[in-house]
Amino acid sequence: MNSQERIKKLIELREEARKGGGLDRIEKQHKQGKYTARERIEMLLDDGSFEEYDMFVTHRTTDFGLEATKPLGDGVITGRGTIDGRVVFIFSQDFTVMGGSLSETYAQKICKIMDQALKMGTPIIGINDSGGARIQEGVRSLAGYAEIFQRNIMASGVVPQISAIFGPCAGGAVYSPALTDIVIMSQTNSYMFVTGPKVTKTVTGEDISIEDLGGADVHATKSGVAHFRADDEEEGILLIRKLLEYLPQNNLEEPTITQSTDPADRVISELNDIIPDNPNKPYNVKDIIYHIVDDEEFLEIHRHYAKNIVIGFAKFDGIPVGIVANQPNYLAGVLDIDASRKAARFVRLCDSFNVPIVTLVDVPGFLPGSAQEYGGIIIHGAKLLFAYGEATVPKITITLRKSYGGAHDVMSCKQLRGDINYAWPTAEIAVMGPKGAIEILEGKKLSTLEPAEAAKYMAEKELEYKEMFATPYIAAQYGYIDDIIEPRNTRIRIIRSLKALATKKLVNIPRKHSNIPL
Ligand code: HXC
Repeated sequence: MNSQERIKKLIELREEARKGGGLDRIEKQHKQGKYTARERIEMLLDDGSFEEYDMFVTHRTTDFGLEATKPLGDGVITGRGTIDGRVVFIFSQDFTVMGGSLSETYAQKICKIMDQALKMGTPIIGINDSGGARIQEGVRSLAGYAEIFQRNIMASGVVPQISAIFGPCAGGAVYSPALTDIVIMSQTNSYMFVTGPKVTKTVTGEDISIEDLGGADVHATKSGVAHFRADDEEEGILLIRKLLEYLPQNNLEEPTITQSTDPADRVISELNDIIPDNPNKPYNVKDIIYHIVDDEEFLEIHRHYAKNIVIGFAKFDGIPVGIVANQPNYLAGVLDIDASRKAARFVRLCDSFNVPIVTLVDVPGFLPGSAQEYGGIIIHGAKLLFAYGEATVPKITITLRKSYGGAHDVMSCKQLRGDINYAWPTAEIAVMGPKGAIEILEGKKLSTLEPAEAAKYMAEKELEYKEMFATPYIAAQYGYIDDIIEPRNTRIRIIRSLKALATKKLVNIPRKHSNIPL
């Protein structure tokens, strides 16, 4: 073969590899409303930036007559490219090749790019669309998964890992996405479960559809496994690109600060009237978030899960931050098991990747009751406490209204190494709310009074307590609050604080690892 013929052969082989499992299967994929593995990569990466690895890898199995079918690339497309000019490593599972099922060599391809990403300190993006372990490969496939899991674990907190689920993701295969920082599921065609509907029926008798067991709705609202439920694959891809705007390449770098056109000295008069006079009246904390951040841009994470706490990324004068805010609009913003877990994981994500945390507090306390106690609110609430206390990134806390009891401590208080703790004049920082406090303090006296007298006495005492204790001034007297600020100046004060904290240096005592209450 002369050199021209050799080049021709290379081009032909590349063409063959690009066809994956064949045109029929590509058509089937499209008919289901799904893009192919390659199309997804094209959509995600900067134009023409994709450098493919291991296009000529084939499986080595001879069982079940598989030696007759050796598709080039073996069911997963791997490589690197750029997103907004920044290098990322990526794998995209190709359902057209044996249902995207994972073989030994397929796993090796994924491990290769994960190893490179770790060496280079760049994010890892995984696009999942697979029937799971390749049945014909047996335990070698299981070993392949475990090799990937091990790398997910080693990469955790070192480089950002983002998973998109655009097809099936079943059995133990779900644990690779679960080990990553962010899971995005497309509304249609995607599902995740450890055990599918058929086995579920056999073992437990429960008759349940695939969507109800592990669809995007379920994981975005009930289990919290999915951070995002995207309307379609296009939105899922955009979310990956957007998320990377707030994250650095790795744990040794800072997130990129961009030029903002939203004035850093913007006064927001509306905020002076945003807290209702009646302390029991809810309001939407997202209105406050949208007011204070750059250009009203807030990338909310876990939007449909544990809505009593709001988390997500935003920027202040171009500086990326993570925001954690109690949501008075939902369950009065109470902390419960799901909210604690949701926020704790996010605080740790921010801390891993040097993203400062802004906390907006309006929390009446922890949700009481046996359901919460039996479910382990003690352990789950401790997660959030631990995450805040362990975090070394700049931490700015603004108490908007209620901050009561244990929840006050948990929500990034001064003693959990909060760097700057401000309160609005509407803040109520105390051990408990007026009613509960008076019932305990004045219980004996109240029991001696006639009902009408007792109600009058109670109201008087409540008012007294409210005036004296349900304010930010006592906390400010002790220096637990650095300043009481006018709500309209909140954006300015946060931006100034972030700039002052940019040089913050705080290192925890070296240890093998902490033992966060899991
Ligand atoms: C080998 C597989 C496969 C698998 C699918 N295929 N899954 N080949 N191993 N795990 C092949 C099919 O034979 C078929 O080949 C092609 O992929 C497309 O599959 P279809 O069934 O035609 O597609 P569809 O109707 O869309 O159904 C998709 C599916 C179904 C729901 C994913 O294929 C399925 O249930 N697959 C098995 C899933 C599973 O139980 N996997 C093991 C999970 S346990 P042809 O040649 O006909 O096109 C696991 C353990 C991981 O993964 C452990 C990690 C620790």
